Amino acid sequence: MDERLFIFDTTLRDGEQVPGCQLNTVEKIQVAKALETLGVDVIEAGFPISSPGDFNSVIEISKAVTWPTICALTRAVQKDIDCAAEALKYAKRKRIHTGIGTSDSHIKYKFNSTREEILERAVEAVKYAKKYVEDVEFYAEDAGRTDNAFLTRIVEAVIKAGATVVNIPDTTGYCLPEEYGAKIKYLKDHVDGIDRAVISTHCHNDLGMATANTFQGVLNGARQVEVTVNGIGERAGNTSLEEIAMILKCHKGLGIDTNINTEKICPTSRMVSSLMNMPVQPNKAIVGRNAFAHSSGIHQDGVLKNVQTYEIINPKDVGLDDNSIVLTARSGRAALKYRLHVNGIDVDDEDKLDSLYKKFLELADKKKEVSDADILVLAGADCAET
Ligand code: KIV
Ligand code: ZN
Repeated sequence: MDERLFIFDTTLRDGEQVPGCQLNTVEKIQVAKALETLGVDVIEAGFPISSPGDFNSVIEISKAVTWPTICALTRAVQKDIDCAAEALKYAKRKRIHTGIGTSDSHIKYKFNSTREEILERAVEAVKYAKKYVEDVEFYAEDAGRTDNAFLTRIVEAVIKAGATVVNIPDTTGYCLPEEYGAKIKYLKDHVDGIDRAVISTHCHNDLGMATANTFQGVLNGARQVEVTVNGIGERAGNTSLEEIAMILKCHKGLGIDTNINTEKICPTSRMVSSLMNMPVQPNKAIVGRNAFAHSSGIHQDGVLKNVQTYEIINPKDVGLDDNSIVLTARSGRAALKYRLHVNGIDVDDEDKLDSLYKKFLELADKKKEVSDADILVLAGADCAET
C-alpha cells in the first residue's frame, strides 16, 4: 500500500502574489474548482487580512468548493487570525496557516527581536488559532536559512501547542537539495512529538532547485508539499505541482502516491496561464508546449517505431491527445510520412516519398516549422505533377 503525499496548492496565495497575475473573485473560484477536480487536498485560498478582495475570495471559495480543505494565511498576529477565521466560516474543512520568520536575519532585521520572543509569539499564535479551528499549520518562514537546533525547538513547541502541520519553507530558494533533505531528516530525528504533525515542504525556485528540494524533503519524511500550478510564484516561483505529481507517478517504486487526477494537469495549467496572463515557457517540464514535441529526425524515427524510445510519460496521462511530431529541417522521411498519414495521405511508394521529402527540405530550410497545411500543399503539387 502506497504512502500518501498531501498536495497543498498555493496558486491562489503565493502564486497570485506575482505582479500582473491578480485574479478577481470569480476567476479565483474558477481556479479553485479546477483544483478540486484536479484532486488537490488543500487549497490555500488567500491571505484574508491583506485586502477586502482576498477576504471575500476566501469566503466565496469556501462556499464553492466541497472536498479540499480551505486554508487561509496569517502572520502570527491575533487580528490576522480573527480575520482568517471569519473568512473561513463557510468552509466544510478549514485550516489556519500561521507563522513567523525564524532565521537570524528575519529575527534581527524584520522583527528587531530575539529567538526567545519569536518562539513565544509562535506558540501564542498557534494556541490562538486553535480556539477557532482544529487544523492549524505553522510556517517557520526562512526555515531554509534557520539554524537546525533553533528550528527543532520552535517546531517542537508549536506541535505541543497544537499545530497539526509544520511547514518548513525555503523562502529564498537558497538550499541545496541534500541540505534541505537533511533539514527535514534532522527534524524527524530530533523533534519530540514530530509524529503528531505532518511535515510540509514549501520551496522557492530562485536557484532552479524548488522541485529537487521538495523531492528531497519527501524522501526524508515530509508528507505534504506546497506547490503551484505551472510553478508560478514570486520571483522565480514555487515548486510546480505537475512536476511533483508526475515524478511520483513515473517512479512508482518509491511507494508514495498523491490524489492528483493527472489527466487534468494540462487543462488546469492552460486555465491558470490564461487567467493569470502568464505564459508557460515552451520547454517547461510536463506542461510546456514542447514537453511532448519531437522534432529531430532520430527522435521522430524512434518514437514512430516505439514511443518508449524517447517518451517517459504518455501525453494522455497529463491530458494531452497525443505527442506531437513537429516538422522542421531536422525531421526525417519517417516523420513526413507520419504527418501525411495523420492528414489522410498515405505515401507507400518510396520514390514518391523521396521526391516529396526533397521539396519538404527546401521549404523547411526557409521556415522554422512546417505546418500540416504546408505539407498538404506539397503533396497536392506533387500529385498534380505525376
Ligand atoms: O515562502 C514562504 O516562506 C511563504 C510562507 C508565508 C509560507 O510563502
Ligand atoms: Zn512562499
